[in-house]
Amino acid sequence: GKVGVLLGGRSAERDVSLKSGNAVLAALLRQGVDAHAFDPAEHDMATLAEQKFDRVIIALHGRFGEDGTIQGALDWLEIPYTGSGVMASALAMDKWRTKLLWQSAGIPTPEYALLDADTDFDAVVARLGLPIFVKPAREGSSIGMSKVTAANELRAAWEKAAQFDSLVLAEKFVAGGEYTCAILAGKALPMIGLVPKVAFYDFEAKYLRDDTEYRVPCGLPAELELAIQKLAVQAFDVLGCRGWARLDVMIDADGRPYFLEANTSPGMTDHSLVPMAARAAGMTFDELVLAILEQARV
Ligand code: DAL
Ligand code: MG
Repeated sequence: GKVGVLLGGRSAERDVSLKSGNAVLAALLRQGVDAHAFDPAEHDMATLAEQKFDRVIIALHGRFGEDGTIQGALDWLEIPYTGSGVMASALAMDKWRTKLLWQSAGIPTPEYALLDADTDFDAVVARLGLPIFVKPAREGSSIGMSKVTAANELRAAWEKAAQFDSLVLAEKFVAGGEYTCAILAGKALPMIGLVPKVAFYDFEAKYLRDDTEYRVPCGLPAELELAIQKLAVQAFDVLGCRGWARLDVMIDADGRPYFLEANTSPGMTDHSLVPMAARAAGMTFDELVLAILEQARV
């Protein structure tokens, strides 16, 4: 049947999504799939219904694409789509509510504070220590994020993040390494270790620079990797995720993991991590795209 690739959209991650979506579309066409691009920022939902897609692959990132809104429209239209449904998409888009759920389920996540105009910024620094990561709760690709290394920078970091979202998190820094664990069809793929050459794995490191070092195999002892993969599947299940996702996790020097977030519509660009993890599991990009499509549901 006819497959739609949803790409672009109107979030701050629009450009990333265009890259992801075009890579996915090219893979489908190479595999002989009758695939077409559809940008919800350029057409309304009635036009989407007129396309008569049998299934769609969601390659949208961020708000209006990864947050349950488009998922709800697709449910309404009864078009099967890849990835999580409405509830898990909405929850995972919100890093604060993700933490609340994970904490209650025993999934470790860094300590944090919510920031707003009434916050006692010095008290936050006293509690979390430095450095602190400040992030809009509902953004992706590190947009609006800062690493605060001095107490007097916290307010400016909050102001920057608040340009993207009224809900802003300050997160305790976990000294150690950054890793990611992709889940596909309910199973964890090999983990990847990230060694950015900048202050943190930010937008520039993610998409523009080529000097981030990616470790696959990730370099953790096999038993520890297995334990964290198990936790990642739990973290995925607790949110009610479906199909695939990518969980980002910090691991401290003692091997203790701290889950940062779940990405329910992970990047599929040539710099992206899920394709890298799939390759480590022996899957080509085209095979990965077909495996994701296979999980499409209403
Ligand atoms: N938010 C970006 C696309 C990612 O998680 O890969
Ligand atoms: Mg993210």
